[in-house]
Amino acid sequence: MRTQVAIIGAGPSGLLLGQLLAKAGIDAIIVEQRSPDYILGRIRAGILESVTADALERAGVAERLHHDGLVHHGIELSFGGQRHRIDFQALIGRSVTVYGQTEVTRDLMAAREGCGARTIYDAQDVSVHDFDTAAPVVRYRKDGQLHELRCDFIAGCDGFHGVTRRSVPDSSKRIFERVYPFGWLGVLSDTPPVADELIYASHDRGFALCSMRSLTRSRYYVQVSADERVEDWSDQRFWDELRSRLDARAAEALVTGASIEKSIAPLRSFVCEPMRFGNLFLAGDAAHIVPPTGAKGLNLAASDVLYLADGLIARYQHDDATGLDTYSQKCLRRVWKAERFSWWMTSLLHRFPDADDFALRIQQAELDYLTGSPAACMSLAENYVGLPY
Ligand code: APR
Ligand code: PHB
Repeated sequence: MRTQVAIIGAGPSGLLLGQLLAKAGIDAIIVEQRSPDYILGRIRAGILESVTADALERAGVAERLHHDGLVHHGIELSFGGQRHRIDFQALIGRSVTVYGQTEVTRDLMAAREGCGARTIYDAQDVSVHDFDTAAPVVRYRKDGQLHELRCDFIAGCDGFHGVTRRSVPDSSKRIFERVYPFGWLGVLSDTPPVADELIYASHDRGFALCSMRSLTRSRYYVQVSADERVEDWSDQRFWDELRSRLDARAAEALVTGASIEKSIAPLRSFVCEPMRFGNLFLAGDAAHIVPPTGAKGLNLAASDVLYLADGLIARYQHDDATGLDTYSQKCLRRVWKAERFSWWMTSLLHRFPDADDFALRIQQAELDYLTGSPAACMSLAENYVGLPY
């Protein structure tokens, strides 16, 4: 079998790349180790920068996003019993859209099926070869048979635990990493959100986040220690802990109900440099991870994919390789700024187990400065809504 671009992974990165290439008449096959149902069962964040919404528009999959997405003009920070609004619209004239990543994935899968592009789901033992030559190969097993897919380029869109980054020799890549000593316990519930906008709460008991998927579905998180087990968290325990970290008004307004998903995610910052190895290009979580505090994961994946799609389109349509040659450099500039922002927001709002009194006072002073300074608010706002592409 042969294709122009072999895409490994059918998460948002792989599916978006597939759609942008299909629109440009470039042939791509996606090889994914899981089933569509498994992929659609994953619950992830749901804040889209305008750059990401534009990318989905360009891919022709923004209809439901426009219909069901909630435009948010700001967020609230909660600490010391008070809430402080950061008004993105007033500060920088921009906003974000609340629309679940699962829904983005669903829309992209439907569009891919609609245009007849090929996705090989449930592929086992996926491996990538010869990407330092002009004739890369992907091998996988499906229904007990070995298959070989020849291509011009491989796009590694297979997430943090994928095979593509691991196939690059250690001597050719450099890893930058920070693992945080806590995780986020998340609950999804069919209850109305506690407030109109997201609340990021810093509390002595730890960080909490009130988010949403729609006007009837909420997503909440509390910071937990890294060794916490989800089995030890009944719904009641979760709601009590969340309520204890909110200001009185939010605690009062919180509507609780049965959880429809509950899971713990570790927090990590991670970057692999470079993002190109010959004819293998890494995109999205395969190349970098951010802690979810800044809501940047999906948005970074989308901007990588835009750069990669444009590079591939210029190469196929005009025999111009400049976009591919500068891919890694362009992505990493944007990636590192989002890494910085996500690390900063994480440091600002969480309780670190080793923080001494000095560190706590600095954190309080920073929150006080931030909410009292239009310049500091503007800096948060422009990073949160997304730096220019
Ligand atoms: N072979 C084939 N597919 C694989 C392999 C493999 N060896 N390993 C992983 N995959 C698949 C996974 O099953 C998954 O469907 O690659 C896909 C990667 O998807 P994501 O992890 O969602 O990564 P990405 O598409 O880059 O999306 C980034 O996801 O984790 C969030 O915060 C992140 O929002 C961001 C987004
Ligand atoms: C979410 O809705 O899941 C969400 C929102 C904002 C974040 C992280 C997660 O910063």
